[in-house]
Amino acid sequence: MTDLQLRFVPDPVLRAVCAPVTVFDAKLAALAKGMLDVMYAAPGRGLAAPQVGIAERIFVMDATWKEGTTDPHVFVNPEMVACSDQVAVLSEGCLSIPDQTSRVARPAQVTLRWHDLNGTPQAGTFIGFAAACVQHERDHLDGILCTDYPEAP
Ligand code: NI
Repeated sequence: MTDLQLRFVPDPVLRAVCAPVTVFDAKLAALAKGMLDVMYAAPGRGLAAPQVGIAERIFVMDATWKEGTTDPHVFVNPEMVACSDQVAVLSEGCLSIPDQTSRVARPAQVTLRWHDLNGTPQAGTFIGFAAACVQHERDHLDGILCTDYPEAP
């Protein structure tokens, strides 16, 4: 999947409402591997499929590799099932929106359900940077960009 290319605003694929993944096969695994390669090369900590031109509900994240701990994760058909009332503000960047950051207020803790590459259901709770990242990437699957939010103080 070395042919995957980053897409930038205003590419319309970034506004697509992505389709659920229904087939968990070697092609999906190769897509996830290719997405991680693009993400690390960019370099970034999260990447959603529409950012490489594929309107399917899958994103990848490695929240800690820039600090020296490689920890790749793949989220297929992610759904947010709970979130905290407490809000955290982070300055977010997006690989599809070069040279721009926006301060976004989001729930400080979120619980997600998703499928892994084998189609097995998974769940996890995220805080801190990872919480913002999974929400940012999940937004991409509905065509929502971090710059759509009002700038937080
Ligand atoms: Ni992004």
